Amino acid sequence: MNTMKLGVNIDHVAVLREARRVNDPDIMQALYVASANGADQITIHLREDRRHIQDSDAKKIIQSSSIPVNLECSINTDILNIVCALKPHRATLVPEKREEVTTEGGLDVFGHEDAIAYAIEQLHDSVIPVSLFIDPSIEAVNQSRKLGAEMVELHTGTFANLYAMLHSSLSYSNHSIKELELPRNHLASMLEKSLEDIKNAAVHAHSLGLEVAAGHGLNYHNVSHMMDIKEIIELNIGQSIIARSVFSGLADAVKEMKRITTR
Ligand code: PXP
Repeated sequence: MNTMKLGVNIDHVAVLREARRVNDPDIMQALYVASANGADQITIHLREDRRHIQDSDAKKIIQSSSIPVNLECSINTDILNIVCALKPHRATLVPEKREEVTTEGGLDVFGHEDAIAYAIEQLHDSVIPVSLFIDPSIEAVNQSRKLGAEMVELHTGTFANLYAMLHSSLSYSNHSIKELELPRNHLASMLEKSLEDIKNAAVHAHSLGLEVAAGHGLNYHNVSHMMDIKEIIELNIGQSIIARSVFSGLADAVKEMKRITTR
């Protein structure tokens, strides 16, 4: 059996809270429920635009979590200073663009070489281990090792998108996705190739002594494919877990309000 550490990303609980700017749903409750039900790690992303997790959330979560906290952040100097002071169990460096809906690809480990090396040094000086969120390629793995990270998180977004196009009923509101026009057998070979890329990158990273995580777009349908890659020791999953929790909890929530409002 291949048991991986499950990192539960609770950013989307804060997304919902920020829609109203009241403390409901309470991010600390999300932390307690996730840790009481099998999460091995909590993952949060302190974005430059603070669209969900706030500095005070990160502080409270790191101070009171009974399980390790993996704090995702960009290489922005102000953010790095905050992260160094917060001292999470690990920092994962991710690319960030203001206009993106979510993290769209891996870090550009070649284009921002010096800035990433400096960020890693700064985090190490604060005794914070560093993971780099990278595209699953041998070159990006080699570069991550060279830059001094101890872990890589392989971006599974391409795999997840192709999987959804081929296998699931998940609908895409983005009709400009050009792959949707491709014949199914072509999509199937692209999916196979995307899995091979993840596997090869994981095996290579492991052989270099790097720890290997994976994440982005993983859900209840596609995650089993990651379980076959023994070099991957951790998965970070957010959207699908929080999305499912809406429907596993909505019936009870409505029933309870109906009970209270019935005389
Ligand atoms: N890992 C990293 C580095 C991420 O940036 C994200 C998205 O915030 C995830 C994992 C989780 O992705 P998802 O929400 O699609 O499960």
